[in-house]
Amino acid sequence: MDTRIRTAARVAEIAPFHVMEVQTAARALEAAGRTVVHMEIGEPDFPTPPLVVAAAQRAIAGGDVYYTSALGLPELRRAIAAHYADHYGVSVAPERIVVTAGSSAALMLVMALLVNRDDRILLSDPGYPCNRHFVRVLEGAPVGIPVGPDSNYQLTADLIERNWTPRTRGALIASPSNPTGTVVPFDEMRRIADAMADRGGELIVDEIYLGLTYGARPRSVLEFADDAFVVSSFSKYFNMTGWRLGWLVAPERHVRDLEKLAQNLYISPATPSQRAALACFEPATLALLEERRHAFEARRDFLVPALRELGFGVPVTPTGGFFVYADCSAFGTDSERFCRDVLEGCGVAITPGLDFGAHRADRHVRFAYTIDQAKLEDGVARLARFLRR
Ligand SMILES: Cc1ncc(COP(=O)(O)O)c(C=O)c1O
Repeated sequence: MDTRIRTAARVAEIAPFHVMEVQTAARALEAAGRTVVHMEIGEPDFPTPPLVVAAAQRAIAGGDVYYTSALGLPELRRAIAAHYADHYGVSVAPERIVVTAGSSAALMLVMALLVNRDDRILLSDPGYPCNRHFVRVLEGAPVGIPVGPDSNYQLTADLIERNWTPRTRGALIASPSNPTGTVVPFDEMRRIADAMADRGGELIVDEIYLGLTYGARPRSVLEFADDAFVVSSFSKYFNMTGWRLGWLVAPERHVRDLEKLAQNLYISPATPSQRAALACFEPATLALLEERRHAFEARRDFLVPALRELGFGVPVTPTGGFFVYADCSAFGTDSERFCRDVLEGCGVAITPGLDFGAHRADRHVRFAYTIDQAKLEDGVARLARFLRR
C-alpha cells in the first residue's frame, strides 16, 4: 500500500463494480480473437430515438449551450408533468419536478437533502449498489435488509417496521428493481407508505425502470403518495444513458433546498440533453419506445424459461427492467468463480451477485437481456453446451 495516498475513510467503504472486472476480462478475450455474448451490460442496446438526436443537433447548432436553471428547463419540467398525466394518470405540478444529471444526481440530491451523520436508510439486499454508497458518502448508515422470493426480492411494510429504529430516516425502494426486475405490489406499496407516514420517515422510490413494465399497467407511487420522493430517468426507457439526464419529483416544500443543492453540486443538467429530451414525448418517439418495450418483453419471455431449463433458479418471474437474477447454486461454485468459468468456458459475460449486496450474493448472478434475440439465443446455446459437459 502506498502510505502517501491519504483519502477519507468513506472511500474505503465504497466497493468498485465487479462487473467492470467481467468487462475487462471479456475485452481481453475479444482482443485474443474470441467472441463474447454480453449479458452483463445494464443499459439498453437500442440507439437513442432519431427525433431526440435531431433535437440535440439543432440545439447545439443553434448555440443553445449555456447553463439552464438548476431545476431544469421549465418546458421540460412541464413535459415530464404532462407525461405523468398521459402515461400514468397522475397529476404532478411541474414545480415539483427537478431535472437532474441522470437519476444518479437525483438520488444524490435526495440523500444530501435528508441524511445526517449516522442516519439510517433502509434498502433491500440485493439492490442497486450505488444507493448504499450515496448514503455512505454523506456519512449516513445504509442498512441492507435481506430479501428473497417470498417478498418478490423487495422490502415490505413488515420488514420496514421490524427494522425501524429511532435513527432510521427513511427507506429507498427500486420498483422494478435492479438486479431482480421484480416490483412491489401496489397494495404493499400503500402499506409501506402508511408505515413510513406513521413513523415520520421519508419514502424514496426509484422508478427508473417503471416505463419498462411487462404484463400489467405501470403504476407510480405518486398515485397516492404526494409526500414520497420519486426518482426517474431518461436513461433506460428512453434509451439515453450517455446523455446523463433524469429527474426527481419532490414534495413542493423541499424544492427550494433541492435547487440550492443542485446549484452547488453541478449547476444545471446538460442543456443539449434537456433540449433533446423534449423530443422524447413526440408521438413518433413514444411509439418507437413502446415497440422496443415489447422487444424487451419478448426477450424476457425467451430467457427466463430457458434459464430455468438449464438449471438456474428463477423463483419470481421479473416483470420489469431488463434483468434476471438467477440462483446458480445448482452448479456447485460460488457466483464470482461461476462468472469467471462461464466467461472463459463459453464466452458468456454475466454479473456476479456480489455487486448487489451480501445476502446470498455468492449463489446468484445477474443476466441482462440488453442484446438482440439472435445473440440471446447464442448465449443460451453456449451455456447449455458448457453446463451440460
Ligand atoms: C436502479 C437504478 N437506479 C438508478 C440508476 C442510475 O441511472 P442513471 O443515472 O443513468 O439515471 C441505475 C442505473 O443502472 C439503476 O439501475
